[in-house]
Amino acid sequence: MNAPARRLELGSLGFDSGASTLLALELGSLRAGESVEIRAEAADLASQLAAWARGRGHRVEELGAGRFQLELGAAHAARRVGAERAGRAPATDVAARPSQRWGLAARGALVEAGGAPFSFRLATADEAWFAGAPELYRAAAAAQWDPGTAIPWDTPLEHPAEVEDALVTVLTYLIENETAALLVPARFATQVHPQFREVLQRLALQAADEARHIEVFSRRAALRRSELGLSTTGGQASLRTLVEEPDFDRAALLLGVLGEGTFVNLLTFLREHAPERCTAELMRLVAADEARHVAFAMGHLAERIRHEPTLLARLASAVRERHDTLRATAGLNEEVFDALVLLAAGAFAPDAIARGHAAVVELVAQMDAGRRMRLRKLGFSADDAASLSGLHTRNFM
Ligand SMILES: [Fe+2]
Ligand SMILES: [Fe+2]
Repeated sequence: MNAPARRLELGSLGFDSGASTLLALELGSLRAGESVEIRAEAADLASQLAAWARGRGHRVEELGAGRFQLELGAAHAARRVGAERAGRAPATDVAARPSQRWGLAARGALVEAGGAPFSFRLATADEAWFAGAPELYRAAAAAQWDPGTAIPWDTPLEHPAEVEDALVTVLTYLIENETAALLVPARFATQVHPQFREVLQRLALQAADEARHIEVFSRRAALRRSELGLSTTGGQASLRTLVEEPDFDRAALLLGVLGEGTFVNLLTFLREHAPERCTAELMRLVAADEARHVAFAMGHLAERIRHEPTLLARLASAVRERHDTLRATAGLNEEVFDALVLLAAGAFAPDAIARGHAAVVELVAQMDAGRRMRLRKLGFSADDAASLSGLHTRNFM
């Protein structure tokens, strides 16, 4: 054995009181073939140390008078041979093409060689990462709200029964849409390489937001009614195209930019025309969450398009293909449309209904203007933006 490079004082520490922890720490700083001198006073340490060292492939020699020399075994050292850093810890320093062998390792961790590779589908920075992701994650984490305390659930509900029915019809539709909006980020979260952890964390928070939306809409609907409204085949067909969209970029456009963007208008409309404060407040909170979801999709796609301008054509065909798939379906169900009119009208009188109808027509125009504006921001021409917005599902999401 080579002369010991260092010395470790165990004092009276035995293997029953933590000697192995100190030994492991000491050995962590040695290279193969290097050795350490150990001084120990605990009775019976010699046999325990010999057994411990043998089990780990280290050589140990007794020098007498409570002194031992322990040499790091090749097997132990080999754990670090071929080990790789899983990128670097700071957020701005993600690896462009992280190894699938890094698997679940923390960004910046030292990964032992020999592990089986994972198969994350979104495994390059080009596909999954954008510089604004850490900030959007932090904003999303800071904006989480508690459904139990954030909403005035005990608001008196004194509006007419017909208005309550209209609201429950809309809530039924919203819950279904929120369920699709939860499944999409949840599914893509499983495909993002953990090197891009803020994207993964952001997707998880988006799914958590949608879980809250499902909860508050369900809870509001149950305040005065024991039954929910209609779920239509047209609505579900539209949402199915989102839930089953396999491409991250196309899903970001269809759900994030077009669907959730349109929903921000819808939720704002529902806040403005809410029959009472409880509904107004929950629509406000949900709309604020949705605005963040839109910002994330826009941030992701803007960066993708900057690197790969041909992506615009691929995104345009996503909208056209979805439109073709849904050509034969009804889109927004009539009950929801009528319920929106009634909510905006607030009453059944013909002049009130006329006002409500005009408000819904205005809402649809605002939705279209918002979609065109976002598509223009991504780089589509004014004509393309107008035609793609026009092809967006009549189901809104
Ligand atoms: Fe939502
Ligand atoms: Fe959303």
